[in-house]
Amino acid sequence: EEMEHPPVNLPKVELHTHIEGAAQPDFIRQLAFEKKTDISGIFDARGAYKYQGFLEFLQVYEAATTVLKSPEDFRRLTLSVLENAAQNGVIYMESFLSPEFCGGADVGAWTEYLHAIQDGAAEAEKKYGIAMRGVVTCIRHFGPDNAKQAAICAAETAGDFVTGFGMGGDENAGHQRDFLWAYDCAREAGLGLTTHAGEWRGPQEVRDAIDDLKVTRIGHGVRCIEDMRLVEHLAEREITLEVCPGSNVALGVFPDLKSHPIERLRAYGVKVTVSTDDPPFFHTTMQQEYAGLTKTFGWDNRHFKEITLNAVAAAFCDQATKDALT
Ligand code: ADE
Ligand code: ZN
Repeated sequence: EEMEHPPVNLPKVELHTHIEGAAQPDFIRQLAFEKKTDISGIFDARGAYKYQGFLEFLQVYEAATTVLKSPEDFRRLTLSVLENAAQNGVIYMESFLSPEFCGGADVGAWTEYLHAIQDGAAEAEKKYGIAMRGVVTCIRHFGPDNAKQAAICAAETAGDFVTGFGMGGDENAGHQRDFLWAYDCAREAGLGLTTHAGEWRGPQEVRDAIDDLKVTRIGHGVRCIEDMRLVEHLAEREITLEVCPGSNVALGVFPDLKSHPIERLRAYGVKVTVSTDDPPFFHTTMQQEYAGLTKTFGWDNRHFKEITLNAVAAAFCDQATKDALT
């Protein structure tokens, strides 16, 4: 039976979001107003984020983060982001937290910001029933030395809330192997590992992520489709892809959802999951992602159940938390 619209209250598990990237323009404008900072240049006439292409996206993203100053700003941000996700049926969300955008990568300052984020997450769990875990993230174009600091922040705060380490930013800057020290440090601290790869660069980047950084998950990874041997390898090794279809289409990785490889990858047996990445930047929500997959590929409850199980299996949380999600 064909589904018209997936129900909003279908429980969803989202592995790939960036906390600052999930900030609604209204939220950022309010903070800019409170702090008397003029960042009006990053918005269009209708008040949405304005950018063309990936590099300008990163610039606008970084400009928006300049009004996120105090730990209290991050507490409010976290609560607001989780409220929006919960309204889309999300029951568990992992979010990339970058010390370089919250308080700087000094461990003392980072701990204070992290505690504020955790307070926001605890309040959201009580109010909206959504659970969150933090994946501390370095920014590739900020270079390996900064990444080292971010990894130290991650290792020092690893525990019930900080459960993973990742890398975002410009995939064309350097190589995955430049970040070996950071990833070894995070692995030794017991953190789950992921990295953005195969979004802007091709299959070799995905191979490097697995072979050099030894990640169990890949952020995006969708350009693995250019190499069928790699696709088979991902399926065999059960490497989970954090696929963000709306992000890929908005940034022009693929021209439209119809040409997006998510359905082909699923059919080849790759463990795919679905996330929003930076929802307001890409004019998306989890509900819209699901609706698009139903409309374009005919996905129904069976497909959504499959991707939810994939996400739970690959989540960076303990078994008791996983059991409670299914
Ligand atoms: N940071 C936030 N969103 C990102 C994306 N889609 N790719 C790389 N870095 C990011
Ligand atoms: Zn991302």
